[in-house]
Amino acid sequence: MLLFAAIGAVLLMSAEGLTREETRALSLVVVLIFFVMRIDGHHWSRSTRASVRYSLCSAQDGAGTSNVRPPGDTRYFASGWDFAEEHARLRMLEEVYDPETTRRLSSIGVTGGWRCLELGAGAGSIARWLADRVGPAGQVVAADIDPRFLQDLDLSNVEVRQLDIRTTDLENERYDLVHCRAVLIHLTDTERVGRRMVAALRTGGWLLAEEPDLTARVAVTRDHPAAETFDSFVRRTTEWYNSRFGRSLPLLLDRLGLADCGNEVTSSIVRGGEPRARLYLETRRRFRDKYFAEGVISQEEYERFERALRDPGFAFLDCLLVAAWGRRS
Ligand SMILES: C[S@@+](CC[C@H](N)C(=O)[O-])C[C@H]1O[C@@H](n2cnc3c(N)ncnc32)[C@H](O)[C@@H]1O
Repeated sequence: MLLFAAIGAVLLMSAEGLTREETRALSLVVVLIFFVMRIDGHHWSRSTRASVRYSLCSAQDGAGTSNVRPPGDTRYFASGWDFAEEHARLRMLEEVYDPETTRRLSSIGVTGGWRCLELGAGAGSIARWLADRVGPAGQVVAADIDPRFLQDLDLSNVEVRQLDIRTTDLENERYDLVHCRAVLIHLTDTERVGRRMVAALRTGGWLLAEEPDLTARVAVTRDHPAAETFDSFVRRTTEWYNSRFGRSLPLLLDRLGLADCGNEVTSSIVRGGEPRARLYLETRRRFRDKYFAEGVISQEEYERFERALRDPGFAFLDCLLVAAWGRRS
């Protein structure tokens, strides 16, 4: 179309007194300009189509997942989140998981005088519990890449330490216990981090790691109108690098050469409105706009998902928490 318009314009101009050579030269220039525009336009439309395809792929490729971080971005996903909101979310996490963690720590035998490292201490409830257990003769290091939520851990036997476990070595052979919960799942080089944690244990010291497997969530009330939406949203939203990490944790501990290894997998059937449902909702809510932008879920489906998580008539099997432990021999 553009070609015809250009030739038409040249013919009109030639009618206004240009010589035949001038008209021919002008036509040539116009045709050349047209081809340059066309090639450029082709390029533009190809790259536009490619980027559209790319963003659809990132919403739908693999198992149809969404990643909160662009490739190469290795920051912890919640770094920079609003203080009050993230603090509240970490407190929910503690409310849900502290009872089973303290049960495990008790059966490991944490007692007076122990030196403990709480890695990725979050809002600090486990560090506080450990401080109480080990007493004035013991010591707890509460380490986190983002220690904003540990400011009120002002106890004489607790040291709050800012530390990125991906890049920082720990003291050698110092601790009776190294514990982490929901930390390794956010990291890529878990073998190296695992070796660091083991190197920090004295002979006979215990490592206890508790990490989720986020892929297990599934609706239980199959006749609920949100059941399908819930399941497909779970499949499409694996925000962390390695959402299945939990299930590989016991094998990691074996590879680290620990003795007396054991593991336990826990979950719960949860009703809408319960603490675990609120924790899940709170985490998903932060990424809502990103999900809409990527086409992971429509606004209408998301609202159905939210209503279900508040509805006691909806029940789901929650993610798994895989606990694995062993001692340095
Ligand atoms: C999901 S929260 C869990 C908090 C706490 N362990 C709990 O279960 O209540 C993950 C924690 O790991 C910390 N974290 C993430 N990457 C880290 C890293 N590379 N080094 C140290 N801490 C890290 C985060 O800042 C956050 O406090």
